[in-house]
Amino acid sequence: MKIKEILKIGIDNLKENNIEEYNLKTKILLSSILNKPKEYIMIHEDDELEEKEEKEFFLKLEKLKNNEPIQYIINSQEFMGLDFFVDNNVLIPQSDTEILVQEVINIANKYNQKLDILDLCTGSGAIVVSLAKKIKNCNFWASDISKDALKIAKKNASNNGVIVSFIESDLFENFSKFDKFDIIASNPPYIKTDVIKMLSEEVKKEPKIALDGGKDGLFFYRKIIKEAKKYLKNGGILALEIGYDQKDEVEKLFKENEYIEIYSKKDFAQNDRVVVGKYKI
Ligand SMILES: C[S@@+](CC[C@H](N)C(=O)[O-])C[C@H]1O[C@@H](n2cnc3c(N)ncnc32)[C@H](O)[C@@H]1O
Repeated sequence: MKIKEILKIGIDNLKENNIEEYNLKTKILLSSILNKPKEYIMIHEDDELEEKEEKEFFLKLEKLKNNEPIQYIINSQEFMGLDFFVDNNVLIPQSDTEILVQEVINIANKYNQKLDILDLCTGSGAIVVSLAKKIKNCNFWASDISKDALKIAKKNASNNGVIVSFIESDLFENFSKFDKFDIIASNPPYIKTDVIKMLSEEVKKEPKIALDGGKDGLFFYRKIIKEAKKYLKNGGILALEIGYDQKDEVEKLFKENEYIEIYSKKDFAQNDRVVVGKYKI
């Protein structure tokens, strides 16, 4: 079968099954199977495919028809200009999270010293690996409750050539009281439990443990903001990604816990996306 023929079948199939971005997804799928850029398949549309390539395409097309995110099928997502391996054990890194990463880079660059930086709830490791790539001469740690997520985060650190110390832990539970950080960054689960069932079928394929922020979506913020105080050095920074409607409540939690210099950052869609605070004894 020719490239153009298989593309047509894929696109028609996904369209019939009401899959969003059917055109783009079909092309991404085929280019990933051929290990060539999307432009290649457009220029070589009359090339014949090998039988095993056709087989793989149709197998994976079924997954797309079943609302499996394309990123899980091709095991890849770009974040901060880096490539991350992803599968259904981790949240697919979102471009909104780049706001948190950029803010932590800005903060770290103001110090002229070797910092200890932790990414709590690391998932795929997107945050910590990007930070380790972009901030020089610091120590990086990352933790998650999920063993499977940590395996992927380790793989992403190694694929991107950075050194990170990983800790399997329910928030700070397995940390030593001697672990102290200059910066703790986190993108914890923050979706209200009741809202999860209303998410798109695709998002529902992501691990529930990565999404569920409890009844009011604030479960993790309450715990992290309170407990981080024990693990921040004096004057240390806590930087959290938030849902678009959580700024006031999260800032309130920072204030109640006596953080100072609290501020927030918006994402490109002008939604509140990050809250930062400093803890000084
Ligand atoms: C929203 S995802 C963020 C993943 C990644 N940091 C990112 O920004 O793409 C939240 C992560 O928190 C982890 N998590 C959930 N409950 C946790 C807990 N009690 N302690 C530590 N990590 C937890 C999940 O396994 C998941 O990887």
